Amino acid sequence: MDLSALKQQAAERAVDFVESGMVLGLGHGSTTLFALRWIAHLLQTGQLRDILGIPCSTHVEADAQKLGIPLTTLDEHPVIDLTIDGADELDPQLNLIKGGGGALLREKIVAQASRREIIVVDQTKLSPTLGIQWPVPVEVVPFGWRAQVAYLESLGARPILRLGDDGTSFTTDQGNLILDCHFGPIQDPAKLAEQMNGRAGIVEHGLFLGLATDAIIAKESGIYHLKNGESNDHD
Ligand code: A5P
Repeated sequence: MDLSALKQQAAERAVDFVESGMVLGLGHGSTTLFALRWIAHLLQTGQLRDILGIPCSTHVEADAQKLGIPLTTLDEHPVIDLTIDGADELDPQLNLIKGGGGALLREKIVAQASRREIIVVDQTKLSPTLGIQWPVPVEVVPFGWRAQVAYLESLGARPILRLGDDGTSFTTDQGNLILDCHFGPIQDPAKLAEQMNGRAGIVEHGLFLGLATDAIIAKESGIYHLKNGESNDHD
């Protein structure tokens, strides 16, 4: 299976929904990068015009600048027409685990500001129940972070401090830490999200519930477009 080709197919299909004049949220990750490249190509060839992008991370900002995609900010454009973003795990209700790239806070801010949030994934991201394949990344402030480890353990997690390539703790674009929390299958994601939302020191978590309006899923058998609210069994 050529995963890279599947990611490219999903990303380019999502770009079919981009129209000239739109403000676009630009997600983080290898799948979304294919969308950025395709948007840049369409801009260069005049097939798209007047696009303004809002990147979900400093990394994506650099990629978009290199590709020549004009950028703006949420302060200038607080409502986004369409966001294309990736995910680490996706359930049949289009609930997600995100944050594998460490950009979950900005990704969630951008998703909540978007009229339409299209998630682009290959078939390896599909899961009957969130938590089976991926830990939930939890962004915590450095002050007292070990207290958050204890709290997350009390919720049933096995939290692991994320490290960067140099072996020191990974820091987010906001200067915070990430605890990758292994919960196993999460039977009640809404309850877990609420428990984390209510805790001082937890800035945000990677459970994205009810935020995706669409998912474009590239499988070896073809490309599938799922919409929030429709019955999706992933088969
Ligand atoms: C970034 O923080 C994540 O939410 C990404 O969207 C996710 O890791 C997807 O990345 P890939 O497209 O590289 O799998």
